[in-house]
Amino acid sequence: MAGRIPQSFIDEVVARSDIVEIIGARVPLKKAGREFKACCPFHNEKSPSFWVSPEKQFYHCFGCGAHGTVIGFLMQYEKMEFFDAVADLAQRAALEMPREAHRSGDPGSADLHNVMARVARFFEQNLADQPRAQKYVSARGIDAITTAKFALGYAPDSWDALLNRFGSQEEERRQVLQLGMIIERTVARAGAAGFYDRFRDRLMFPIRDSRGRVIGFGGRIIDQGEPKYLNSPETPLFHKGRELYGLYEARQARADFKRLMIVEGYMDVVRLHQAGITYAVATLGTATTQEHLNKIFRVTSEVVFCFDGDRAGRQAAWRALENSLSLARDGRELKFMFLPEGHDPDTLVAEEGPEAFENRLNTALPLSEYLIQQLMVEVDLDHVDGRAKLKALAAPLFARMPEGIYREMLADRLAAQVGMPAATLKKSFQSGDPKRAPTERPEPIVPHRGRISVGRGNLLTQAITLVLHHPAAAAAVKDPESLQGVDKPGVAVLRELLMQAAAASGPSTAMLLERWRDLPEYGRLAELAMAEPLVADAAAAAKELQMAVEKLLEEYGPGRRMDELLRKAEELGLNYDEKAELTLLLKSKGRSRATP
Ligand code: UTP
Ligand code: MN
Repeated sequence: MAGRIPQSFIDEVVARSDIVEIIGARVPLKKAGREFKACCPFHNEKSPSFWVSPEKQFYHCFGCGAHGTVIGFLMQYEKMEFFDAVADLAQRAALEMPREAHRSGDPGSADLHNVMARVARFFEQNLADQPRAQKYVSARGIDAITTAKFALGYAPDSWDALLNRFGSQEEERRQVLQLGMIIERTVARAGAAGFYDRFRDRLMFPIRDSRGRVIGFGGRIIDQGEPKYLNSPETPLFHKGRELYGLYEARQARADFKRLMIVEGYMDVVRLHQAGITYAVATLGTATTQEHLNKIFRVTSEVVFCFDGDRAGRQAAWRALENSLSLARDGRELKFMFLPEGHDPDTLVAEEGPEAFENRLNTALPLSEYLIQQLMVEVDLDHVDGRAKLKALAAPLFARMPEGIYREMLADRLAAQVGMPAATLKKSFQSGDPKRAPTERPEPIVPHRGRISVGRGNLLTQAITLVLHHPAAAAAVKDPESLQGVDKPGVAVLRELLMQAAAASGPSTAMLLERWRDLPEYGRLAELAMAEPLVADAAAAAKELQMAVEKLLEEYGPGRRMDELLRKAEELGLNYDEKAELTLLLKSKGRSRATP
């Protein structure tokens, strides 16, 4: 796995990345002494126990135990594979992935990405060549720059244009089939090929992943036809419920947007971006899922849902609200914006211009407002059962929300609105809701362990901690190999760490830990990496480390065993095995110091 990327390259990626910058872009960090802290993004908490150390290039949550390097953070937070996390950081640092690096997992997926990139270029080329497609693009008001930015293309009006281009070799045909670009005929027709193109006579919108690789397409029929939009099917690269159209482009346009706006269609995204509203994204013909929102909340804390004002739009909005409740919490803003009936963002921004359109953001309702408003519409409070109905409607909604200030506040507001004591309303929510799925419960919180402090008594743990905290100090230990002769569990770890630190150039805590990522010792080492500091600086660490190693050699090294055997030889005499052992020890000692 990790071994496919050379260690030296991983070192370089770690050295050239700044964990504070990478985490800070996703989690609001506050400076606290030499480190940074935040409320942990991996569990629900009210006071911060998530620490990021710029010196060690390492993060650790003392609440839930989450920890890791900058690579580990991307893996944990962005759910990236190891390979992708390294590749992502490498790209940021303008480092080229070494040729011998392979992705883990499916060895074929790099190939599939490759084929998909060529398919996208094929469509782009077709658009450039075909006046019919170009005419449609300009009739929709899309300019050349936007066409290029979104890499729009055209799938020709033919059953086998793509098939002819990519299907003549068996291997490649298998790949485009796997990518959903061609379909196998179920009923073989005499004289006809066994496959045909999925997308025909369509304007093609390539869907890109976070790294800009094309993973699927949406295709809009030119002019009229059914279905109006066709999406790629689920493939090894493409999972519809997870992707957001325009997110890559939005991140390209600006690294630091204030908010993202979720609209309904491909065309809406493209037109809004063209108008300068580059924070628009769309789900791919599905309702907004929690997975979508998780993705979004990684890059911003404000989401505005933008819906058509018609019935369908209102229904979609309510579904979006239900899906986002479990993610609603303090510090996040979820808003709902409705457009006048008969309009979508595409037509509206063309009609009124970007400024007027953006002004509509001021009319967006916060989730709480929208929720209360909708409940009030449904419930007639003048009626006797009005309140009972309200409780019944609100309870399952509240049950979806994580416990916290946000939920409390919303309950208070709703109670005030209906003129009911807040306590009464809240009590009706606590009776537990059977519909609440167990997966929606907040993750159990492991008891707070806090930063550990390494006891002065434990020499080995101290030494390991010193190397982890001050890897450069390892150079002070002259002969780490000599620890080979030390008979004590865990010394091998110290020896290994010392040698690794001495061999790396400009070693950091994170670099060392990356070497242990897949080993059983990793967890313990990570804990020690964030333990209370033992010494003030690297110079002190070097001195202490040297002393610790000498002491270990003295106490557990070959010398100690030799003394024991020599004493026994004098007092009781040695058996055969012991004599042999002593001879061996004396010989090896003769090599390092003079025999007594
Ligand atoms: P709309 O029908 O609202 O289309 O579908 P639109 O975005 O206004 O498109 P234009 O302006 O007529 O070109 C909104 C979204 O719903 C999905 C697509 O993702 C589309 O962008 N959809 C729609 C489908 O997946 N299939 C369809 O047949 C129609
Ligand atoms: Mn439209």
